[in-house]
Amino acid sequence: MLSNLQQQPADALLALIKLHNADPRADKIDLGVGVYRTGQGDTPVFAAIKAAERKLVEEQDSKAYLGPEGDMAFVEALMPYVFGKDTADMGGRIEGMQTPGGTGSLRVALAMAKRAGIERIIVGVPSWPNHAQICADLGLAVVEFNHATTGGRTDMEALGTALGRAGERDAILLHGCCHNPTGIDYSHAEWDEIAHLVAEAKVLPILDLAYQGLGNGMEEDAYGVRRVLVAVPEALVSYSCDKNFGLYRDRVGALYVMAAVPEDLPRMMSNGHMLARANWSQPPDHGAAAVREVLADEALTAQWLDELDQMRERMRQVRAKLAAAGTAGAVDLTPLGGQNGLFSIVPLSKDQVLEMREKHGIYMAGSGRINVAGLTMGNIDKFIAAVADVTG
Ligand code: LMR
Repeated sequence: MLSNLQQQPADALLALIKLHNADPRADKIDLGVGVYRTGQGDTPVFAAIKAAERKLVEEQDSKAYLGPEGDMAFVEALMPYVFGKDTADMGGRIEGMQTPGGTGSLRVALAMAKRAGIERIIVGVPSWPNHAQICADLGLAVVEFNHATTGGRTDMEALGTALGRAGERDAILLHGCCHNPTGIDYSHAEWDEIAHLVAEAKVLPILDLAYQGLGNGMEEDAYGVRRVLVAVPEALVSYSCDKNFGLYRDRVGALYVMAAVPEDLPRMMSNGHMLARANWSQPPDHGAAAVREVLADEALTAQWLDELDQMRERMRQVRAKLAAAGTAGAVDLTPLGGQNGLFSIVPLSKDQVLEMREKHGIYMAGSGRINVAGLTMGNIDKFIAAVADVTG
């Protein structure tokens, strides 16, 4: 029976990690998967997380099961950061659960939407490839619209048209900040308009917030999520701590459900808990426990926010240097200066991406996406020269 299984392609992005590791060239550059890197090219554990982990080793008195919802103190500690200090649960209308990373959260969010009767997910493209993959695996149809114009701006017209055509069994999946893969985010004014359009179309918003703090700051990066939430009766918010706490492989995330009235929440959450139990039973504890320790301690919280500021500042410097280069061969690098987060698209063909890898040892996603944190003051000139070479 199992021999009936068809070969599946390896995940292109994750496969890049292995290809890069196997490349013997000393000056190779990894611009593939989205992990933050320092100016020295390292992805260290946050000092605040290290301190929290030491505390856990000393003080944690049990590793007994917590239940499908995971560590609720962790889930609740994040809420003021996501939803705002004064509106942390929107008057009792928001409840959350811990999930294995942002992917686990999206999996439960989309499955929950499907159980509620949603049939189609409206997504701006390009998007993170796993969005479409999870939808396909759940049997949810994907309706695409252009996220950005060729001029590198958000395509509000395409978004408006997609929402104008939406039906009552549709949901819209929106990136809260640091759009993956384009780095092209909605402005505050555009979020105001989106909130209005989503409410008018009566579609269910699913907001993916995987990079809070890496764009323009913790508060600023939550603007879109908060703006949409005040405009609609119900919403799902998928949250990841993998990037903003540097916990990638520990898989730390949360799913938040906003109900029209608090009385609906227990019934809705029971579906989330059931889906967790059917998928992974209970989320892994360690990373979320470390985040909880950080957020429970004022000094550690300040240290974490400071580390996050430094990351953001470094990425801004890389972006400024790319933009200052102007053009590289046929590519205009200036728009990258105004984009947000870890990612941007460099408009290269598949063949040019391959040439970047084979000739120059520069690893980037097939879409032309680069992880700007993979660039340092020591390798950025090589990158710019290589782009000029393959497009010149
Ligand atoms: C990325 O897009 O590189 C990250 O979100 C990591 C992943 O799991 O794909």
